[in-house]
Amino acid sequence: MLADFNITAPSLAEVMDFVSQHWPALTAVAIFAYIFSRRYLTPLRKIPGPFFASWTRLPRIFAVTIGKPHEWELKLHRKYGRIVRTGPDLVSVGDPAAINIIYNANDKFKKSPFYGPFMVYDEEGMLPDPLVISDKALHTRMKKNAYTAYSMGAMLQLEPLVDAVTDRLFVLLDKRPMCDLGKWLRYYATDVIFAVTFGEDLNFMEKGDPIGMMPMLEYVVGDYVAIVGQIPWLHNFLLGNSLVAKLVLGDNGLDGAALDLARKQVGKFRAKMTSEDITGPVTFVQRLLEQQRKDPASINDRELNTHAFGNITAGADTTTIAMRTIMFNVAKNQAIYRALTHEIRETAKLAHPVSYAAASALPYLDAVIKEALRIHPPNGIMYCRTVPAEGATICGKFLPGGTEVGISPWVVHYDEELFPEPEKFRPERWLDEDADLVAARKRSIFAFSAGSHTCLGKNISLMEITKLIASLLVRYDVELEDPKAELSFKCRWFTPQTGLRVKLRKRVL
Ligand code: HEM
Repeated sequence: MLADFNITAPSLAEVMDFVSQHWPALTAVAIFAYIFSRRYLTPLRKIPGPFFASWTRLPRIFAVTIGKPHEWELKLHRKYGRIVRTGPDLVSVGDPAAINIIYNANDKFKKSPFYGPFMVYDEEGMLPDPLVISDKALHTRMKKNAYTAYSMGAMLQLEPLVDAVTDRLFVLLDKRPMCDLGKWLRYYATDVIFAVTFGEDLNFMEKGDPIGMMPMLEYVVGDYVAIVGQIPWLHNFLLGNSLVAKLVLGDNGLDGAALDLARKQVGKFRAKMTSEDITGPVTFVQRLLEQQRKDPASINDRELNTHAFGNITAGADTTTIAMRTIMFNVAKNQAIYRALTHEIRETAKLAHPVSYAAASALPYLDAVIKEALRIHPPNGIMYCRTVPAEGATICGKFLPGGTEVGISPWVVHYDEELFPEPEKFRPERWLDEDADLVAARKRSIFAFSAGSHTCLGKNISLMEITKLIASLLVRYDVELEDPKAELSFKCRWFTPQTGLRVKLRKRVL
């Protein structure tokens, strides 16, 4: 047929010639076609959102890089509504009712490629870290084999270990009537997590950071992962590449120092268990080792080490952030300070060591903790998931399979209908007389995530926060060094603050 019309295929030289003559027009057509197809040739065209973000992730990458994705997402949700297209294949949901659709027990919405840079590898491959596992059977096994060790019952008998760390903190704070309390809370939380996990800590409070672990957690787990998680393929050329990781982080690679440390501490405890009778509270690792002894098939060495590694990497900075939020807001607001200290000192007459049972029964303290987790969630990036192959309808909009979707705690926690004047720290909203409203607020609290991937360390954290805040206010009168000061923070995977400088006055008891 071509011969009939005398059309011959152009030679390569002719094509090159055409391209070199018309490249500006061709480039413009290609860009237009790319933008058009990304923007419109997808069912996501029906999801509202800024034009720019519908064909490129650059706005979101920029927001995360400058540490302000929370502000960016909130602004978009206030403009476009409960569901917003924040990238060509990325959707942010701000509807608390959608928490149960995206994050539930059946695990249909798997962890998205965002979690790729979190993955840590050892000689056998990817570590079975519950945070990143998509394989449901393996994830269920990892949760089951540590279920008792993370339970509140197990935590409560560890209280004496927490109290011993608190005693040491107080000795140090007694000598520092003016200090950066935020820094001390971080050292404290790190010592506590080591103490409850391994039965001994590394004296972060006394020695600073003896193993250089804190910068690794802050810059790799907190910052790098949040930024590179937006463009996960890039990880293969950065810290996901063993050569680059070695050059940047040294021999241990990504998170390797924490993994090595976890293995070493577990090994030490195992040796102790075979050589001597262990007395005292049953630590996290001891519980897992005893379980392994009774039922070796239930948990292997690698899984046990992974849980210990998880505690080291996930347990301290998150809890620190929550404690900083509480102390800052309580010291900043005189009415709240008076109500809380009255409850702790006069009504309950708590004394150090404060038991979790006594402190957790205080309604105002409980409301203060809830409000702190609401106003400043310790994780700053939406917990990304992938829509299952069959697609899903969320907020009345259909999302095709493969879309990356998620909810940011910062967005649902600042919902103006549920939390009027959301930027105000107001514990009273948790004590509202309208029980249905309070129940709806509780269902919207998303700081610990929800469904099958809910935070495993929630009990440790709540026990530690509740006891420490009550103990601090039993021992000290606390004031901000500068009453007008505000905390500054960056919002990435973690949301660590700086600037919590206080005056402490030891109370006469
Ligand atoms: C205020 C303190 C804490 C907050 C706000 C917090 C927050 C979170 C969040 C948001 C997730 C889930 C992320 C997702 O859905 O993708 C998570 C998972 C996890 N957290 Fe926490 N966390 C805290 C303390 C702790 C502590 C103290 C530990 C350990 C001792 C811990 C261990 C874990 C583990 C192992 C997971 C993975 C669970 C899974 O995916 O099955 N966290 N945490």
